[in-house]
Amino acid sequence: PFDWYREMRDDDPVRYDADRRSWDVFRYEDVKRILDDDETFSVNPRLTSDFVEPDNPGEGLIFDTMLFQDPPRHDELRGVVDDEFQPRTLRERESHFRDLAADLLDDAVADGGGRMDVVEDLAYPFPVTVIAELLGVPAEDRDRFKRWSDTLVSAASDDEGGEEYAERQQQAQMEMAQYFVEAIGDRRENPRDDLLSEIATTELSDGGTLSREEALGMCILLLVAGNITTTNLIANAVRCFAEADADLFDRLRGDERGLTTALEETLRYRSPVQAMTRIATEDVTMRGETIEEGDRIIVWLGSANRDERRFEDADEFRPDRSPNQHLGFGHGTHYCLGAPLARLEARIALGELLDSAEDIRIADAELRPTRSSFVYGVESLPIRYAERS
Ligand code: HEM
Repeated sequence: PFDWYREMRDDDPVRYDADRRSWDVFRYEDVKRILDDDETFSVNPRLTSDFVEPDNPGEGLIFDTMLFQDPPRHDELRGVVDDEFQPRTLRERESHFRDLAADLLDDAVADGGGRMDVVEDLAYPFPVTVIAELLGVPAEDRDRFKRWSDTLVSAASDDEGGEEYAERQQQAQMEMAQYFVEAIGDRRENPRDDLLSEIATTELSDGGTLSREEALGMCILLLVAGNITTTNLIANAVRCFAEADADLFDRLRGDERGLTTALEETLRYRSPVQAMTRIATEDVTMRGETIEEGDRIIVWLGSANRDERRFEDADEFRPDRSPNQHLGFGHGTHYCLGAPLARLEARIALGELLDSAEDIRIADAELRPTRSSFVYGVESLPIRYAERS
């Protein structure tokens, strides 16, 4: 998409797309302005002038979560889980997460004969396992849990699988909903040290707790928002590093700080989330165009992050770029709740990969892009490597 973004930034930075019936915004400055102003630019899809309530009740649940609510409701919902995603809380679990990644890599190396698929063997299962642990899903339920997450991932992609497939999807989603509703009920009675308990018991300003639907929506949001995105950050990083100069992998081995900086550059250069939506709450003029109240606006983070007005050599991957004020996690009120977790997971996954493998190369020239709209990455990433003893 990057050539298209450049053309649009230069020639048509704010434009109306009649087919999609939405506005597109491409420049860094404009994108940031929109994200900074949540009174004029709402996240609430119900404010869209042509909004229709979705048939699928699951989708309705998501609309009531923090991601699609404006302040003050947003702040109240985010406050329920905020503490659990702070870097200092996560640091306590770092060594355990590291063990999980190391186990996945041990299996892949043992089976692989110098080959593995970064997505299938590491980047996909790792974040799913981590969020399951944080939520407090017991080990014996992991397989079921992973199957449900798979379903959510394919539900989020623009795949047309036919009626039978749709039925299976719905079945799995209902199973998952039931599982979470029961687990939350259980935590209300017997709270533990996990995220499900926070969701079940945290007191809101009205003295109550989240309703059953709101609690379920929160669980689903954490899965949907956190899994494919982190999978793609990890895979995109391996791709970026492999395409950079030949010894980048070696230089980053054991260099936590260098790795952290290079991951920020991955978030800029190959942003896992390319775009987000906002709704105008009043008529507003940008670059001479009038956006009307109730209009939908696609905010192109992936383009803002390549804006040469903001970044020197924007189309170059520079692993040591610093400072790096990219918008890969968004900006302002809805700035990614999971950013500290995603950063930690990526640092661990890449760190462990570099510990177990050297001479890493992408094995297959033809990489299929992910099917999810607005998510940027590849479906699979086969690599060849030499095992490190
Ligand atoms: C919000 C990107 C990982 C949970 C966002 C937003 C972006 C984003 C761009 C802003 C949405 C908006 O403004 O409309 C990413 C990327 C990730 C990632 C690129 C991985 C590399 C995660 C993880 C979690 C998570 C691991 C949790 C487990 C959330 C939540 C929100 C959010 C709950 C909504 C925050 C709010 O509305 O206040 N994410 N995310 N994300 N993300 Fe992430």
